[in-house]
Amino acid sequence: MTKMRIDKLLANMNLGSRSEIKKYAKQGRITVNSIVEKNTARIIEPDKDVVALDEQIVRYQKYIYLMLNKPQEVVSATEDNLHRTVIDLLSEEHKAYSPFPVGRLDKDTEGLLLITNDGQFSHSLMSPKKHVNKKYFVEVSGSISESDVKKFYDGIVLDDGYKTKPATLMPQEYFENKDTSTCTVIIQEGKYHQIKRMFADIGKKVLFLKRVEIGNLSLDESLKPGEYRELTEQEYQNLLQLQGENE
Ligand code: URA
Repeated sequence: MTKMRIDKLLANMNLGSRSEIKKYAKQGRITVNSIVEKNTARIIEPDKDVVALDEQIVRYQKYIYLMLNKPQEVVSATEDNLHRTVIDLLSEEHKAYSPFPVGRLDKDTEGLLLITNDGQFSHSLMSPKKHVNKKYFVEVSGSISESDVKKFYDGIVLDDGYKTKPATLMPQEYFENKDTSTCTVIIQEGKYHQIKRMFADIGKKVLFLKRVEIGNLSLDESLKPGEYRELTEQEYQNLLQLQGENE
């Protein structure tokens, strides 16, 4: 059972800084189970105790689930000595949940990145055993042939000897002698630099990479690179259902 201090609960719910909350307590504005509580260091159990500020019950939200349109030049990490991280893009309110990215996108990759503080949820989505599709929009050098599509499907032996599971390569057009081509790729794994290494094997360089879907969740195209929002209840439920189906 989760236990926490009253001031942490109220601060996490963005109801004030610790010192403001102390002031509210002194003013008798905070109650626990309908009894005024002036000690903000008191430990409560959010699942059991009813905490209220100005008679408004504060429902504790333990987990957050955010969808970020990751821009280039930021790293998918919680801390980094050299670069800005995806967590640096969040508001103080969301940072208070100690969230982390679900899996990784390379520094120069854009697109759909989930950020949460729910470890179980993250693990279930990223585990290769769950076979969750990840769809990418890709721009590459050169032209894509039908034999490239077959190679992706049959599996590509990466530079470290690992053979990739069947991947779907869908070129937007099959023109020969093109300088650059666009396509979508669906993979279920997430090996280091996987898509770049798969294209490298067929002699092409990835020029632009953007993740557009994870399972049944699509990137909200109204989010500009660097913008994010909370998942809707429906999006969250859809992902939970997907995790259950792929058990
Ligand atoms: N494959 C890559 O090469 N990079 C990513 O960021 C994601 C998939």
